[in-house]
Amino acid sequence: MTVFWAPRWEGVLRAGRDDRISGDEIMKLVLLGAPGSGKGTQGEKIAAKYKIPQLSTGDILRAAIRQDTKLGKEAAKFMNRGALVPDRFLLDLMADRMVEADCKNGYILDGFPRTVAQASGLGEILKSADAKLDAVINIDVPESEVVKRLGGRRQCLKCSAVYHVDFAPSKGAFCDKCGGELYRRDDDKEETIKNRLRVYREETAPLADYYKDVLKTVDGRGDSAAVFARISSLIDKL
Ligand code: AP5
Ligand code: MG
Ligand code: ZN
Repeated sequence: MTVFWAPRWEGVLRAGRDDRISGDEIMKLVLLGAPGSGKGTQGEKIAAKYKIPQLSTGDILRAAIRQDTKLGKEAAKFMNRGALVPDRFLLDLMADRMVEADCKNGYILDGFPRTVAQASGLGEILKSADAKLDAVINIDVPESEVVKRLGGRRQCLKCSAVYHVDFAPSKGAFCDKCGGELYRRDDDKEETIKNRLRVYREETAPLADYYKDVLKTVDGRGDSAAVFARISSLIDKL
C-alpha cells in the first residue's frame, strides 16, 4: 500500500534508539475496539499500572477543537458526524506526539490506528526507529452493549477521565480525579453513534486481520475491573 504521507524521521529515530530511562521496559501497545468498547477506560488503567502514557487521538482532537486550532477546525467537520478525520492529519499528529519525552518507555495508542493506511504509516514510523508493537489488544463487546455504554457516558473536560451515569458514576457532579467539569460528548447522540459503528465496521475492524500476528482479543463484557484483570494478565505474559 502506498502511503502519501512523508514521515518525520529524525525525531522518531531519536526516540526509538537512545535516551531511555534505564532499567524500565519499553512497551508499545495498541487498543483496538468499537466505539464504547472501553478503550479510554482501560487505557487509563493500563497507563497507571504500567507507567506508559495513553495517547488517545479522540482526546487530542477534542482538545484541539476546544482550543480552536487549525487542526481542531478541520477535525470538527468530521467528528461531529461520526466520520473519520483524514489519515494525513492523524499521521502527522501521532508522528509528533510519539517522540515527546514521556514516550521514552513506550505508549498505549487509544483510537489509532483506525484505518489500514494509518496502520501502514505507523508501521513505517516504527520501522524507522527499529521498534515494533508488543501487542494489539482488541476489546470485544457486542454492539447492543456499546450503545448502552455510550448513551450514559460522561467525560471530564480537564483530564478526559471517563464515567458512566449507571455503570461508573462519579461521586459528585464533578470529576473525582481532578474536580473538572463533566460533559456529554457531541458525538454520543443516537444517530452519530450509529454512523461511528458503521465506520468502525468498514474502516477499523479490518485491522484485526492486518495485525493478526500480534492481536490479542479480550472479552470486553462484564465490569471494567474484570476486563482490566483480563488485559493485565495478558500484558504480564508478553
Ligand atoms: P474516539 O474518542 O476515539 O471515540 P471512539 O472510538 O468512538 O471510542 P469512544 O471514546 O467512544 O469509546 P471507548 O472505547 O474509549 O470507550 P470508553 O472507555 O469511553 O474518537 C472520536 C472521533 O475522533 C472519531 O469518531 C473520529 O472522528 C475522530 N478520530 C479519533 N481517532 C481517529 C483516527 N485515528 N483516525 C481518524 N479519526 C479519528 O467507555 C464508554 C462508556 O462505557 C463510558 O461511559 C464508560 O464509563 C463505560 N464503560 C467502559 N467500560 C465498561 C464496562 N466494562 N462496563 C460498563 N460500562 C463500561
Ligand atoms: Mg475513548
Ligand atoms: Zn478530571
